[in-house]
Amino acid sequence: MSHKNSRIAILNIFVLVTTLTALSLPSVAQATGEAVHYNSQDKLFRLDGAGVSYVFGVNERGELQPVYWGQRLGEKDALPAAHSMMEVASFDLSTTTTPQEFSGWGAGLFVEPSLKITFPDGNRDLVLHYVSHAIHGNVLEVTLKDISREVFVNLRYEVDTATGVLGRSATIENRTKDPLVVEQAAAAAWTLPRAPDYMLSYLTGRWGAEFSLQREKIGPGQRVLESRRGSSGHQNNPWFAVSRGATQEETGDVWFGALAWSGSWRITVEQTQVQDVRITGGYNPFDFGYHLAPGEKLGTPVFYAGYTHSGMGEASRLMHRFELAQIAPQAPRPKVRPIIYNSWEATEMNVDEPGQVALAEKAASIGVERFVMDDGWFGQRKDDHAGLGDWYVNPQKFPHGLKQLIDRVHGFGMDFGLWVEPEMVNPDSDLYRKHPDWAINFTGRPRTLGRNQLVLNLARPDVREYVYTFLDKILTDNQIAFLKWDYNRNWSEPGWPAVAPEEQRKIYVKYVQNLYSILDELRAKHPGVEIESCSGGGGRVDLGILSHTDEVWTSDNTDPFDRLSIQHGFTQAYAPEFMMAWVTDSPHWLNGRATSIEYRFLSSMQGSLGVGANLNRWQPADFAAAKSMITAYKDVRETVQHGLLYRLISPLNGSEASATESVSQDGNQAVVFAFLHSSEFANPFPTLYLQGLDPQANYRIDLLYGKQFTPGPATATGAYWMSHGTDLALRGDYQAASFKLTRIR
Ligand code: GLA
Repeated sequence: MSHKNSRIAILNIFVLVTTLTALSLPSVAQATGEAVHYNSQDKLFRLDGAGVSYVFGVNERGELQPVYWGQRLGEKDALPAAHSMMEVASFDLSTTTTPQEFSGWGAGLFVEPSLKITFPDGNRDLVLHYVSHAIHGNVLEVTLKDISREVFVNLRYEVDTATGVLGRSATIENRTKDPLVVEQAAAAAWTLPRAPDYMLSYLTGRWGAEFSLQREKIGPGQRVLESRRGSSGHQNNPWFAVSRGATQEETGDVWFGALAWSGSWRITVEQTQVQDVRITGGYNPFDFGYHLAPGEKLGTPVFYAGYTHSGMGEASRLMHRFELAQIAPQAPRPKVRPIIYNSWEATEMNVDEPGQVALAEKAASIGVERFVMDDGWFGQRKDDHAGLGDWYVNPQKFPHGLKQLIDRVHGFGMDFGLWVEPEMVNPDSDLYRKHPDWAINFTGRPRTLGRNQLVLNLARPDVREYVYTFLDKILTDNQIAFLKWDYNRNWSEPGWPAVAPEEQRKIYVKYVQNLYSILDELRAKHPGVEIESCSGGGGRVDLGILSHTDEVWTSDNTDPFDRLSIQHGFTQAYAPEFMMAWVTDSPHWLNGRATSIEYRFLSSMQGSLGVGANLNRWQPADFAAAKSMITAYKDVRETVQHGLLYRLISPLNGSEASATESVSQDGNQAVVFAFLHSSEFANPFPTLYLQGLDPQANYRIDLLYGKQFTPGPATATGAYWMSHGTDLALRGDYQAASFKLTRIR
């Protein structure tokens, strides 16, 4: 027998032994109606929420070992107690083949650890064993401790009983007498059931092309999703979904999750030697090194994850429901988003009072509800070389301050929003001349500029104070309903020279904590103010920022066709309510594509609608079309923003067609948006088979824009719309249509 075969034989024996153990020693992790249950006999924890059960136990070594994660089990279903796995070969020790809920790097662990620590004596061995636990309602806390040193880890699990989404995080506490360095700290590790045929979905991108959905087979080794940039980043988004076997949009097993963190992060998807798939996520260990003094604690971000048996579509819908009910600052019932006008693409930085008033008046005439003045109103801001950091109203552009403009906007029946970029500074600014040390830097090293600006070190208490104070003043002095909070570059030279060398890497954590606390404090003091997170488009979109802000700017790319695939990727992870989408001008400035105003509106109406066009160039027909589209949107926006999203036809992979459907929470309305890229003769637009309707109920169809191919019944059952479907008359290039269904009582 070759060496390789002998290892396979051992593995087979091992599988047999554990199966037999499970059969001969049945033990019950019995649910009792509560979300969290502990079976003390078998040391099993069981968490139940909606259609999901999650079970782990304490094995004979004292490690926390995952046992089950998937469809909700029967109340009396028996599960085996956790037993560590055998040594598969002398090269794959039991400590590495046994999956753990939260592993320390030590004791022969070759796979991704959750926690890695260096002690001052050079010791780097960390072995975490169960100590105790506590259950409070839907929350389970489990305390682990190193086998010899006074390092404690408190693991927190919270079940959302409406969706089955679990939130997991860890707090690391140094109770030794000496400082230590946390080199790597995850929030959680998730272990999937063993299977050979997993597919990983994740989101990649760049400026102007965010949320590109990738899908690949999970093979041996690691696939690392990460940002090393100080913020969540355009390049990877902290979200994953893993599907098994022949999973489709609406059928099959999917495990999905997202990290609530707006700083550098990492999610490692790893298939181990024994074909376990484990997903470990938290702080990015790259350039980490968190100095923990005696008595000090480090908390991790929360890593949320869920499961569904009903495909990628249901995975998204569960995330959306969870976000609206649990994450959004206005949870559990966020208001619908108002329709915004934003001045950026019209005036760029050439803002002044008469110009903005002229735009505002036109915006109000089509039904816009919020007028937002973008970049250019402050300091000596003429272009991107100067002004950031100096948050006074530019007296040449606004000789009367902002009050007259805001009053005019209110007079037009809209509220007023303002662009800010609080975390940045131009070297050409009074702030930088006074406080050059406030920028993130390494002493004596060049400071790399991006868009002629540097990042302020928000981890510093004085910078935090400055940023909070100027924002508070702007909001106190002016009647402002909305801030567009921008962030237009990533970090370079991430030093913090003002603190002791061993403290400097805390910047990765403290910066983001201060960002969140400023947002929270401002919201508490100015409760009516809503905030949009923007980072050159969608460069800072994650569940962390979404728990402190009301919406995000999806992408600087507002081309309505490009947006279809950006929005397709975005809504895999995030609710359409958060997805601000403007109608801008044609041909589009980025790629020269010409599209009709209706096509542009229908593309944007799949999210939170905004208008960003230069209204000074619009013709009467444009105003008329916009007005009727905005009226139509107001009627369906609750359904789009808070409803259940079904992706009927994907725009990806060169698809000629795409379509989405949203069904309102109460099931009384559905709205469909359909898009044709280019038609080929004798190749009709695909029949749209609707989803999520009550088969017995009757629904009336009303076209918002476009025509049906052959007019069918005006009213029919949900069964008809779902099984017979409907055909739209779409042909040509960049065509779009939309209709709604209304339930007849
Ligand atoms: C970023 C934003 C834009 C606009 C500009 C202003 O690029 O994404 O929407 O606000 O900054 O400078």
